[in-house]
Amino acid sequence: MPTTATLATLTDSDRLTDANWWRQASVYQIYPRSFSDSNGDGLGDIKGITAKVPYLKELGIDAVWLSPFYPSALADGGYDVDDYRDVDPKLGTLADFAEMSAALHGAGIKLIADIVPNHSSNRHVWFQEALAAPKGSAARDRYIFRDGLGENGDLPPSDWDSVFGGPAWERITEPDGTPGQWYMHIFAKEQPDLNWSNREIRDDFLKTLRFWSDRGVDGFRVDVAHALTKDLTEPLIAKADLSEANSGTDGFPDGSHPFWDRDEVHEIYAEWRAVFNEYNPPRTAVAEAWVHATRRARYASPEGLGQAFNFDLLQADFDADEYQAIITRNLAEAEATGASSTWVFSNHDVVRHATRYGLPQVSKGKDHAKGQDGKGWLLAGGPEADLDMALGERRARAATLLMLALPGSAYLYQGEELGLQEVAGIPDAERQDPTFFRNKGVEIGRDGCRVPLPWKVEGTSFGFGDGGAHLPQPDWFSSYAVEAQDGTPGSTLELYRTALKLRRELQGAEELTWHKTGNPEVLHFSRPGGWQSVTNFGDTAVDLPAGTVLVASGPLEDGKLPASTTAWLR
Ligand code: GLC
Repeated sequence: MPTTATLATLTDSDRLTDANWWRQASVYQIYPRSFSDSNGDGLGDIKGITAKVPYLKELGIDAVWLSPFYPSALADGGYDVDDYRDVDPKLGTLADFAEMSAALHGAGIKLIADIVPNHSSNRHVWFQEALAAPKGSAARDRYIFRDGLGENGDLPPSDWDSVFGGPAWERITEPDGTPGQWYMHIFAKEQPDLNWSNREIRDDFLKTLRFWSDRGVDGFRVDVAHALTKDLTEPLIAKADLSEANSGTDGFPDGSHPFWDRDEVHEIYAEWRAVFNEYNPPRTAVAEAWVHATRRARYASPEGLGQAFNFDLLQADFDADEYQAIITRNLAEAEATGASSTWVFSNHDVVRHATRYGLPQVSKGKDHAKGQDGKGWLLAGGPEADLDMALGERRARAATLLMLALPGSAYLYQGEELGLQEVAGIPDAERQDPTFFRNKGVEIGRDGCRVPLPWKVEGTSFGFGDGGAHLPQPDWFSSYAVEAQDGTPGSTLELYRTALKLRRELQGAEELTWHKTGNPEVLHFSRPGGWQSVTNFGDTAVDLPAGTVLVASGPLEDGKLPASTTAWLR
């Protein structure tokens, strides 16, 4: 049930023991390799995060979500995990992790770990055993191995595509040197899918959940939560025989897709919930599930993961109608499941929203082909020419301020508090994302939102570390640096700090009331206690409702709310 206590009245230690802490939390995503580098090897690390805990505390967030920090060859930025119960030696040690967790908790900040259950990496000891073991062995049964089609088995078992492009099957060489079986990988070939029908896999993940929960992890972000269970009854269904609705990657309203969003997946999460409830407060989880809107609630159920990302605002235009419809629908859904809603504009998979909102708008059929696909990934030969950075930043600030006034939890992505833009111009030779390689460069991939953060105006890698940055930072990063914005009135960083602090003070029950504005381009809602948020999506300044302005995403014009601006009042 919603907490009624105003969050501002909670001390740091109350906040840590409150079982409902997650319901309206502000969660800051750290992509560890690009956050802060303590040892000058060009990769961010765990000690780098620990050193920035005072920064995170001052920002005013409630929790950190840490993207994968496990041993990994980085074929997919760490989502290719070699060992689920260790820290990548490039990032630190378990002792460093303990120190970071203690420092975060000491600052009243919770820790959410990313867990990647759909696939391991091809370097995981299980996969290495599977390669060395014969066909039909227990070791192969931990993954999804099948014989190929055609006379010599040299055709893949089905024509399924991987999400990153190219086939979803890869052929192995058997231990005796002959061409062998194929294994399934929905993502890169370095990410073989695990077989979740195998009890050993299920038990091992329960062990992993306890391992991290015992080490101070308060919750989990579950990577591609909707892919774990599969119907691999043979013959495997051909792409052409999937119905149209079933052929996308975002699921199917009746759960009949062979690998996305099958009903059986929830049996797994019921077992996870039992483990979460062994702890006090119970561990929490949020599903990354790109599923049909009607099926999201299952992931968010209190008997399951408890919360699920809603990516609707992330995919929306900066448009009053769209926003209002999305907010209304998601709040109703959350109420029906007992979960709280989630809101997110940016993460490590999509073009930063300050840039998206400076590009031609994409949904409602508008200019869809120009530069972005449905998830806002940039396409090669993309839209830089059409980019209006100032407009993007202005809209992004307005959008974020609106989001921070909504009931539910707000997920923020590192660097958005600086108004950081996507880095579009990364040379091909320096790109890392498998999306780029597997699509032969048609989609330029996600490196542009993963460029190491600028902390200082000058110096090697703008204060990220002493040894350069693993992805190239453009010169314009200087003006976005923390140092440039710290204490600067009107900076995006100061806007986030002010808004996050006020959000804690003002937050009460998870209720929202819409108010008529008489202008289809203006959204006005209030929360209990007289907290109001007004956003002008239009092109001309409008009058504000009665009340005292607490904060605005940009300067007011003669007391009016200018275009692409949000204000909070009370
Ligand atoms: C999720 C992650 C993404 C990763 C993929 C495969 O969508 O957010 O970064 O590439 O899963 O693990």
